[in-house]
Amino acid sequence: MNTLTDKHILLGITGSIAAYKSADLVRRLREQGAQVQVIMTAAATAFITPLTLQSISGQPVYTQLLDAVTESAMEHIELARWADMVLIAPASADFLAKLAGGHADDLLSTVCLATNAPIVVAPAMNSFMWQAPATQENCQRLQQYGIKFFGPATGSQACGEVGKGRLLEPNELVDQVQEVFQTQFLAGYHVLVTAGPTREDIDPVRFISNRSSGRMGYAIAQSAKMAGAQVTLISGPVALPPVAGVQLISVYSAQDMLTAVMTRIATVDIFIAAAAVADYRPSQLFSHKIKKYDADWQITLERTPDILATVAALPHPPFTVGFAAETDNLLEYAREKLQQKQLNMIAANWVGVAGIGFDSEKNALNVLWAEGGIELPCAAKTELAGQLLEIIIQQYQQNGYLPHQKSGSY
Ligand code: PMT
Repeated sequence: MNTLTDKHILLGITGSIAAYKSADLVRRLREQGAQVQVIMTAAATAFITPLTLQSISGQPVYTQLLDAVTESAMEHIELARWADMVLIAPASADFLAKLAGGHADDLLSTVCLATNAPIVVAPAMNSFMWQAPATQENCQRLQQYGIKFFGPATGSQACGEVGKGRLLEPNELVDQVQEVFQTQFLAGYHVLVTAGPTREDIDPVRFISNRSSGRMGYAIAQSAKMAGAQVTLISGPVALPPVAGVQLISVYSAQDMLTAVMTRIATVDIFIAAAAVADYRPSQLFSHKIKKYDADWQITLERTPDILATVAALPHPPFTVGFAAETDNLLEYAREKLQQKQLNMIAANWVGVAGIGFDSEKNALNVLWAEGGIELPCAAKTELAGQLLEIIIQQYQQNGYLPHQKSGSY
């Protein structure tokens, strides 16, 4: 099987002399099994004709944002959804600026804003244009947005300069496209992660909560995004910055978190419950601050809804992964939770131990499933998150699950 079989690559061509290489690029991508559709900017059509790209891609070439001839006149949305990757090669300095500024005044820039697929740019320009502070600032901003760069290469340029700014050769671009797909093992999956603590109010100034910082859940969300997933992160109150490219829903209490999860769960392929949800909340919520008296004060607590168990009990649950935070009998209690809550997998971690678990940069996990398990020794939460996702996807596929997007079962 070719390495890009059935991959949908939307190739954007912008105004650069290197646009002549795009035809060869399309041919090579198709040889590897990819389906390629092409969008050209107006400037690109000055360097190579749409007819050339149409003949080589075997598909109509798109050049207009507002095209009343197309079926729905919503071409940008259809193309944005169709793409597994948007590859812009060559990407001119002007187009990088447009992308960094979030413009949507032609079809290609509009598709880039509308797509959930990874965007990759292969710059091609004069070496002084590449080094210009404005271009470099735009590139930094694009990298912060999660946009990947292929090249540019260094060498002799069409304008006679020698320096950095050459488009990579088509075979090098194809190699890099293949690499992206190899690391994009969650492309096409919708992953929902819960993170952080919940707060259960006693009165307007007091609440019950726990020491969760949200780091573990945020690291999982970030790794899932980097692996190509569509990620929704439902977070209790934390002091962490949002994760780029991840939809963040901020919630307060266990009940809020349950509502936020259940309104989104129908399209979720993998649910990972890393939040430390309060197990109990005050039975009574006082509307005024409770005054202090000499006598002791007793609060009656009631159970909160169990979000993880509710998801796992759905008629068609997603692949459901829980966490178990324990101060003793880690493996025994974690296996009990795995079975009682009917989970696909559970990640058990010690809490109350210095340097791991709650509110630390590091953790150690024992990942368990019905027939086995694996130990992930102490490491940064960001590293563990990637390892955990690789185990999840292996088990997911071994259990014969199919992502919604591929099975069409929304
Ligand atoms: O946030 P950090 O500071 O990075 O710390 C990470 C962590 C220690 C919080 C994290 O790794 C972790 O262990 N999260 C789960 C904590 C927890 O609540 O464990 P539990 O054993 O009490 O709950 C078991 C599972 O049920 C968890 O997946 C939990 O999200 C879920 N649950 C619990 C209660 C409830 N009412 N609803 C739930 O969904």
